[in-house]
Amino acid sequence: MYAQEVKSTGQGIKSLEEMEPDERAFQEKINADIKIEPKEWMPEGYRKTLVRQISQHAHSEIVGQLPEGNWISRAPTLDRKAILLAKVQDEAGHGLYLYCAAETLGVSRDQMTEQLLSGKAKYSSIFNYPTLSWADIGAIGWLVDGAAIMNQVPLQRCSYGPYSRAMIRVCKEESFHQRQGYDIMMKLCAGTIEQKEMAQDALNRWWQPSLMMFGPPDGDSVHSAQSMAWGIKQNTNDELRQKFVDETVPQAEYIGLTAPDPDLIWNDEKKGYDFGELNWDEFYEVLKGNGPCNKERLGARQKAWTDGEWFRDGLMAHAKKREARKMAAE
Ligand code: 3HC
Repeated sequence: MYAQEVKSTGQGIKSLEEMEPDERAFQEKINADIKIEPKEWMPEGYRKTLVRQISQHAHSEIVGQLPEGNWISRAPTLDRKAILLAKVQDEAGHGLYLYCAAETLGVSRDQMTEQLLSGKAKYSSIFNYPTLSWADIGAIGWLVDGAAIMNQVPLQRCSYGPYSRAMIRVCKEESFHQRQGYDIMMKLCAGTIEQKEMAQDALNRWWQPSLMMFGPPDGDSVHSAQSMAWGIKQNTNDELRQKFVDETVPQAEYIGLTAPDPDLIWNDEKKGYDFGELNWDEFYEVLKGNGPCNKERLGARQKAWTDGEWFRDGLMAHAKKREARKMAAE
């Protein structure tokens, strides 16, 4: 999207004519779909926006292992256990690619970790909800990874090269995650009455939080207009949320489940579903740290950091010893 077009949103985006030469050359590259690479000139705001978004994304992948990790030892079969284990491991890998992508912008892994642990950096709201039954693992794969794909496929075209390339690999793996989740839901829905009820209950609890993953409504989104002008985001939060609802409702119907929204109705004119207002008060409470599991999630990350201290110290001591030996030999 061109800077001039975005200006019409009234969110103070500069037109090309208003920009300094460096910034104009940068914006023209973005408008021509040329990727920005780490050592190239970029506006400070662009760098900061990317560090914020990529590090939050990385933290989400890492914290996102916790709700599912809770079920690895309780998965109902050996196959399900192996699949879930592989999925959770993939999420760790996604976190690592993303931390590396953020590091190319001049922020260190330790700084990002400190920001997460001090509560300065956010991670996705969705991971502050508990996984109460095995069906929740199905709902997470189907809905949470499904929403992540909807959000991340356009991020493959992000203007920043390292983020865009990380997204290509992440999206391939997320597709497998989404399928494994839907497969769990399909099996439960084809099972006993109790199993189908368990699947419906999981859908009831995860539906709204999944729709909130896309961020606040467009009118309340602080960063969307500028991020779209910079080619970081390709779509608004509401556009992606609508696409997700339109794709997911028929998937629910196919397995005999009902999205928990009395206002959900097909709108033939817009060729999409109308749906009810989400509980945005709950969303902002979760962002403030008051969700059902915020304290538990951060506590687990803090414990992991503290427990790993001896290992980090050992690595540093070894690296220093090697460096000293190398210098003595020179
Ligand atoms: N959870 C937590 N915070 C959220 C949020 C959410 N679901 N949605 C928005 N926010 C925060 C923003 O970070 C911002 O806060 P900040 O200024 O302190 O950073 C504020 O709410 C206003 O929102 P905006 O719409 O202005 O923010 P963005 O333009 O950054 O849009 C976003 C939000 C769509 C989430 C965007 O940042 C994004 O696309 N991020 C990359 C994808 C990502 O982080 N996904 C995490 C999902 S989980 C995942 O991928 C793991 C997988 O394995 C399931």
